[in-house]
Amino acid sequence: MKRVAVFTSGGDAPGMNACIRAVVRGAIYHEVEIFGIRYGYDGMIRGDIFQMSSHSVSNIVQRGGTILKSARSKEFTTPEGRRKAYEQLRKWGIEGLIAIGGDGTFTGASIFYNEYELPTVGAPGTIDNDLYGTDYTIGFDTAVNTALEAIDKIRDTADSHDRVFFIEVMGRDSGYIAIQSGIGGGAELVMVPETLTSVDDVIATLKQGWDRAKTSSIVVVAEGEEEGTAHEIADKVKEHLKQKDLRVTTLGHVQRGGRPSAFDRILASRLGLGALEGLLAGQKNVAAGIINDKLVYTDFKDAISKEKPLNPDLIRMVNILSI
Ligand code: F6P
Repeated sequence: MKRVAVFTSGGDAPGMNACIRAVVRGAIYHEVEIFGIRYGYDGMIRGDIFQMSSHSVSNIVQRGGTILKSARSKEFTTPEGRRKAYEQLRKWGIEGLIAIGGDGTFTGASIFYNEYELPTVGAPGTIDNDLYGTDYTIGFDTAVNTALEAIDKIRDTADSHDRVFFIEVMGRDSGYIAIQSGIGGGAELVMVPETLTSVDDVIATLKQGWDRAKTSSIVVVAEGEEEGTAHEIADKVKEHLKQKDLRVTTLGHVQRGGRPSAFDRILASRLGLGALEGLLAGQKNVAAGIINDKLVYTDFKDAISKEKPLNPDLIRMVNILSI
């Protein structure tokens, strides 16, 4: 294989740049021509493709976001869009692809592979950590630390005013960011889509804390929580706890930006090089991952569809530690 292209797609994640750098430098090391595709699948369709050099990835290992830009492409979900993308890749003589992104990216890559058999290897990049086949995804650690920093700050003001704060974190349908930032931030309660927590449970837990002389409380709510958004849950709780001052903070996209942590930079470098070397060694239609510190490859199909459950020990621990 002599010509490989790399792209980032879907929601960006801190560490994607470190991953791109590893792919590019790895390709140059292995004497493969490397091309960047801007704006993910949209850029592939438009032919927004350029040759990359070692210099094009200088000074990016520490930067959040993605120098290749990203997009969620509607057109690539159509057979016509994918055909245009394939024609562009053929025009550029691309023989293999490295797709950096989350489940939407891998779903697109898998459909594309099944149609055109262009060898593709994925590197899991999403703050949600919701992909099977890797213990951690690129960006998750940084997002948790960003959320944690915010929770620490909110705790200060919650404490000064004896308030209850509902803090909503990202994660789409997964509670990974919520459970980890909740434990790290000493939350009284963490509400995740993976377990049932009713509004009555929330009220009971808060009251239990006050009976034990707690004056302020933090409830971390995953955005995919079944009971609703943090605002909706806070409104329901308020109906029953009129005497308490409640506030809601939705952390939002702040969790997607910022300098990647050391953990994410190293993980991204390993996954980027692992994806590239896998591709050159004949891997296709798979995602690179790290499980128990070992590089592994998992079929896109499994990476997207298999469950990666939250560690039940963590869920149990929140309840014990919040006493
Ligand atoms: O998948 C990453 C993520 O940040 C999710 O946690 C969140 O649900 C979603 O992307 C937000 O997407 P967008 O940036 O398109 O609003």
